[in-house]
Amino acid sequence: MKLFADTAIISEIEEVSKWGIIAGVTTNPTLIARSGISLDEAMNQITKLIDGPISAEVAEASAEEMIAEAKVYAAKNKNIVIKIPMTMEGVKAVSRLTKLGIKTNVTLVFSTSQAIMAATAGATYVSPFLGRLDDLTKTTDAGFKVVKDIKDIFNTYGFKTQIIAASIRHLEHVDQAMKAGADIATIPYKVLKEMDKHVLTDDGLRRFREDSKK
Ligand code: G3P
Repeated sequence: MKLFADTAIISEIEEVSKWGIIAGVTTNPTLIARSGISLDEAMNQITKLIDGPISAEVAEASAEEMIAEAKVYAAKNKNIVIKIPMTMEGVKAVSRLTKLGIKTNVTLVFSTSQAIMAATAGATYVSPFLGRLDDLTKTTDAGFKVVKDIKDIFNTYGFKTQIIAASIRHLEHVDQAMKAGADIATIPYKVLKEMDKHVLTDDGLRRFREDSKK
C-alpha cells in the first residue's frame, strides 16, 4: 500500500517529502483554503516537492465546465490528477477525460455503487472516505467495510481503478486501509507524524541510551 500525504500545507509536504516514503499528495478545496494559497500556487509548489500523483480538485459543476477546468490543470504537469466529485456530471466528465488520457480521482465515494460507476467510467482512482462513513454510522468500521467491498468487487471484475482510502483520522484507519486492501492511503500530516511512534520504542531507546553510558 502506497502512502500519500493528504494536505496542501507546503511546509508539511516539504517535511514529509524528505522521508523518502511519500508517493503522492491529495488536496481538496478545504485543504487548499487551509493552506492559505491558491490551488494554482499549491500545484506549482507541490509538483516540485513530490514526484508522484498530485490530486487537484475541480469545482462541482457541469461535466463541460469540469472538463474545461481539468484540461487547464492537466496541462500544467504530468503528475496532476484531476479530482472529480462523485455526481452524474462527474461520471460524464471522467468518461470523457479518460478518453483524453487525463487521470482522474473520483472523490466523495461512500458506497460500492458509486465506486462501480466511477470505475466503469475509467477513473484512475476512487476515494472512499473512511472517517466520514464512521461519523455517519457512529461505528468504527463502516469505512473499512466499504473499502474492503470495493476491493473485492474490483478484483472480481478486473477493474484497474486504484482505491485511495481517504478521510483517515487516526492510526486505526491506516491499519484498516491496509487490511481492506486499499492501494493507497492518503494520510493527514498529524497522523503521518504518529506512524513511527510507539511507547515501547521510546522506552527501548531510553534504556539503550542509559546502558550505552555504562
Ligand atoms: O481526502 C479527503 C479527506 O481530506 C477528507 O477528510 O477528515 O475532512 O473527512 P475529512
